[in-house]
Amino acid sequence: MELQGKRLVLGVTGGIAAYKAAELLRQMTREGASVQVVMSEAATRFVTPVTFQALSGQPVFTDQWDARMANNMAHIDLSRHADAIVVAPASADFLAKVAHGLADDLLSTLVLAREAPLLVAPAMNRQMWQNPATRRNVATLAGDGIVVIGPASGEQACGETGPGRMLEAVEILDELIAYFQPKSLAGKKVLLTAGPTFEAIDPVRGITNLSSGKMGYAIARAAREAGAQVTLVSGPVGLPCPAGVERLSVTSALEMHAAVFERIAEQAVFIAVAAVADYRPSQPFESKIKKTTQTLAPTIELVLNPDILGEVAALPQPPLCVGFAAESENLTAYAEEKRRRKRIPLIVGNLIADGFGGDHNTLRLFDDDGEHLLPPDSKRRLARQIVARIATLLEKRR
Ligand code: CTP
Repeated sequence: MELQGKRLVLGVTGGIAAYKAAELLRQMTREGASVQVVMSEAATRFVTPVTFQALSGQPVFTDQWDARMANNMAHIDLSRHADAIVVAPASADFLAKVAHGLADDLLSTLVLAREAPLLVAPAMNRQMWQNPATRRNVATLAGDGIVVIGPASGEQACGETGPGRMLEAVEILDELIAYFQPKSLAGKKVLLTAGPTFEAIDPVRGITNLSSGKMGYAIARAAREAGAQVTLVSGPVGLPCPAGVERLSVTSALEMHAAVFERIAEQAVFIAVAAVADYRPSQPFESKIKKTTQTLAPTIELVLNPDILGEVAALPQPPLCVGFAAESENLTAYAEEKRRRKRIPLIVGNLIADGFGGDHNTLRLFDDDGEHLLPPDSKRRLARQIVARIATLLEKRR
């Protein structure tokens, strides 16, 4: 329940994407938000208020002069207690109105009279989006502190392809959740490694491990939600890149090492979540190894991979380094030993039985203040707690 207790106004303006607003509303309420829907007259031509009324469990307003408002002040009353106003889809016309402070219907009047922050998810034909007038209006909105979410590029309802498509409901929801997170890493650069590495034996085989990448991706996302500029160096995983995060995909430990050192200057924080293979075949076979019955099984000689975290921590002016320790037993002793050996301020430890591959985990943080238990929770919420701890340590370091 990521929006528990939040009071939102969902504004819907005219456009084919109005159907996606119904799904967005459902997801908002599922996350615990109470949502008041306000539609423009044009929006009601695409989806009827009945749909939004049923999904929000509240009356839907479209008219400035709605008699249901006792004092005829719908534009003030509806947004007075809102934590945010989200307009999705936001048409080109609506963006223009807000940019110029026009107020000729309930939604635009409510937005002009707001105290709450405003987030808009534009949706329009690509030519409308690229029109210099829309470009100017969007720049004005951004300058006024309005959060513009999307749009995406892709196939449009008109049959054309290009920028202007509204983001999917889940993407808008994620941006909204991110918006409400404390900005404890605002403007900071954060570099992470995540996932397994794959060390080639021959062109089709290799040594890898079962790291899912979920914890690293969750931290990348949490850091971005906290306002950081995040780069994620990821081994092979099947996870989508979190919104607003730059991802560099790598395969082997050597590639991960190179990608990290290419970016490490200017980073405020380095978080090594990847399960880096400790060893790699010294000389991968150039062709696929064939099975033969005459000879003995082939021997694969292994050599040690570089310790990425260890090397970063040993830089003359290292970023704040965070390591992970996934252990089968003796967590406290092993984690503390790793923290001292790699000379890093924070180690996040977990027992493999508690969370490997899943969406939940139980963690222990080890830093100069001792050991701190993070009880069982989703990786997403645990990631936020790790980010909060990192922000505190950064603050202390200053
Ligand atoms: N790490 C790294 N580069 C490596 C190996 C590990 O950056 N070549 C990082 C991991 O991302 C993690 C931490 O170091 O943050 C793990 O420490 P380490 O003890 O070196 O890794 P393990 O392989 O878990 O050690 P062991 O096998 O001894 O338990």
